[in-house]
Amino acid sequence: MRIVNTILELRAAINAWRLAGQSVALVPTMGNLHAGHLQLVSIAKKKADRVVVSIFVNPTQFGAGEDFETYPRTEREDQEKLAAEHADLLFLPTVADIYSADAKTTITVTGLSDLYCGASRPGHFSGVATVVCKLFNSVQPDIAVFGLKDFQQLTVIKTMVRDLNIPVEIVGVDTIRESGGLAMSSRNGYLTDEEKSIAPQLYQALRDARDAILAGNPAYADIEQQALQFLQQAGFTPDYFSICRSTDLKKAATEDVDLVLLAAAKLGKTRLIDNIYFSLTAQPS
Ligand code: PAJ
Repeated sequence: MRIVNTILELRAAINAWRLAGQSVALVPTMGNLHAGHLQLVSIAKKKADRVVVSIFVNPTQFGAGEDFETYPRTEREDQEKLAAEHADLLFLPTVADIYSADAKTTITVTGLSDLYCGASRPGHFSGVATVVCKLFNSVQPDIAVFGLKDFQQLTVIKTMVRDLNIPVEIVGVDTIRESGGLAMSSRNGYLTDEEKSIAPQLYQALRDARDAILAGNPAYADIEQQALQFLQQAGFTPDYFSICRSTDLKKAATEDVDLVLLAAAKLGKTRLIDNIYFSLTAQPS
């Protein structure tokens, strides 16, 4: 696996593949890689001749007082994992490689960016959309692979790609979970042992709400309230629990068929997010 730090080297490597007629997939990450990230790489390998993985802890998507400084940086382990997964190229830029000091342009996917996680983390999704657009411009991949774990992020990116006519196919990959159901996340490492035993109940709350909806309960507002109460009693400080349409993340009405339940809650200092999506016409996965 080749490792490059600058956009110039990145373009040179990709140009050589392009000349040989090879297709390219991009997997953007912030590192501290776990089985969820590696699943994205494995899917990318199946879909393109060459796989580029980026590791960049993007400062513009962290708010004041968030964990940008302390975000786990495990470069050596990450490199080993990616080499074992047969990624072709690792792009490891510095902040100065990505952002010019007097940058004046950002991307905001209006409407979507200030809901849910965007409401609690102002500016977060503009930071995500801007860096992902920069990565797309640098790599110009045929496909880019993202996790469904960050459902709102994926929706923001798909909408940006549609609205800006970016010629890339976006592929979403199912969430990889610990055996107890907790969605894998780089931030799970912040959890204490006691918090780790509570954390799977976020997914439990989502499954209970899904089951209530599938059983025909039409009182969505009550289901949301019960879930928030359940989370609070379990020891979380819930942020939101919302029954949404999976297409545009608007609040779901009972006639909507394709649903996603979005949840975020703090456990001690750690903010966890998760979701579950399903269709009322099909059996849950
Ligand atoms: P990061 O949190 O490192 O996640 C990188 C990718 O891995 C994202 O597409 C995310 O949805 C996916 N992912 C994380 N946990 C997963 C899991 N348990 N199962 C499957 N996929 C999972 O998301 C970001 O970085 C950044 O916002 C980024 C898109 C790189 C922009 O900076």
